[in-house]
Amino acid sequence: MTEKLIKNGRIITATDDYTADIMIADGIVKMIGLDIAAGGDVEIFDASGLLVLPGGVDVHTHLEAEVGAAKTVDTFESGTMAAAFGGTTTLVDFAQQPHGGGVIAGLDDWQARAAKACVDVGAHMIITTFNDQTLVDMKSVLQNDGVTSFKMFMVMPGVMMIDDAELYQIMRMTGENGGLSCVHAENGLLIDLLIKEAVAEGRNEILNHPRVHPPGTEGEAAHRAIQIAKLADSPLYVVHVSTQDAVNHIAEARHDGVPIYAETCPHYLFLTEDEYDKPNNEAAKYTMIPPLRSQAHQDALWRGLASDDLQIISTDHCPFCLTEQSWGLEHSKALGKDSFAQMPNGAPGVETRLPLIYDGGVREGRLSLNRFVQLNSTTPAKLFGLFPRKGTIAVGSDADIVLFDPEESWIIKASDHHSRVDYSLFEGRETIGRVKKVFLRGEMIVDGTEWLGHAGGGQFIKRGNSGQV
Ligand code: URP
Ligand code: ZN
Ligand code: ZN
Repeated sequence: MTEKLIKNGRIITATDDYTADIMIADGIVKMIGLDIAAGGDVEIFDASGLLVLPGGVDVHTHLEAEVGAAKTVDTFESGTMAAAFGGTTTLVDFAQQPHGGGVIAGLDDWQARAAKACVDVGAHMIITTFNDQTLVDMKSVLQNDGVTSFKMFMVMPGVMMIDDAELYQIMRMTGENGGLSCVHAENGLLIDLLIKEAVAEGRNEILNHPRVHPPGTEGEAAHRAIQIAKLADSPLYVVHVSTQDAVNHIAEARHDGVPIYAETCPHYLFLTEDEYDKPNNEAAKYTMIPPLRSQAHQDALWRGLASDDLQIISTDHCPFCLTEQSWGLEHSKALGKDSFAQMPNGAPGVETRLPLIYDGGVREGRLSLNRFVQLNSTTPAKLFGLFPRKGTIAVGSDADIVLFDPEESWIIKASDHHSRVDYSLFEGRETIGRVKKVFLRGEMIVDGTEWLGHAGGGQFIKRGNSGQV
């Protein structure tokens, strides 16, 4: 591989902010310094006026994933290409134990599909079925395969839900072995009842979706998960936090010194439940769980990011097309045309995380540049066993580097995206700050609008134990 020299860029890490040159060789950062001299065969990139950021690390995506009767529309190729155009060079995607099946089979299946990834990928496992073999296999993938975190759903009884006693046993084993338990915190039994009551009363429109997932159901489940994690002596990560109720419980536990971590997602930071008042075919874009919330909850999430009660922003990229046409009914929100209760839950976002958080977070004065990098790259890498290889710009780290123009204004349009999904949650939003070039282990894979990467160009990363941050 030719050596590369990125000159005169403003390098931002979670702690530093300075202008320097970066020499890249053999896929890693070889040298950082002032006025580094280059030999004749070194490729030079002038980054004057640009931010030089570590590649984004998105620890919450669902590619080619089964969610109930539906399947997400992005393949590993399309989803990771979209990630790259959004400045994300590492995903930790969710492999899944098939309901009633084995953990190892679920991982093997994921590994076969993930071989097509264009950026680096690690796996967490979603545990859907608890039996004698489950803990044995979980311990095996944790110790041998670099799959060091697991997600348990406290919702969707009979399909995904893990009950409290099972959760306790999983957390205990995971904590004992240096892993990290992740929970989807919503009260599944209560929500199931509310859904059934709504359907029985003929309330099938999408505006009922947030009503059957009231904020307290998230707060209650987050609190319960925290108590179970404390009993199990295990660290806990609460995924896609959307409510003040959950933030309050997380903050309280963290202030007591309990190792609880949590993420939120751009859609909860920039959109509110008002979207559900739109006509059904428009509101369908926003059916995800937990649902979008009120402005007061959104404000609490921003406060949580500022106070470090929330440590990570990930996308929960879980894309289904609005219409059946392109990729078929199973990949589409059209499955829910008769009732919100049949609507596949999930939304796209892997391509817009960095620009949105820069524009609405840094430019709006809510986050510093360092905090922006910490939330999108460094802490996800640290917490999920990828640091210091990923998540920062330092000598010896992978040369996963994003050149970002902090001044360029552009309009978000699904038609410009690289995902297979046919809509964006942020269609038409004017955004300042744009990804210009992306390097993955020293190879330029994005150059403006040009794609230089390829399927299979990503590597599977065996993650280390969960670092506490
Ligand atoms: O609606 C969502 N979030 N779908 C994806 C599955 C999950 O719960 O993360
Ligand atoms: Zn979830
Ligand atoms: Zn998810």
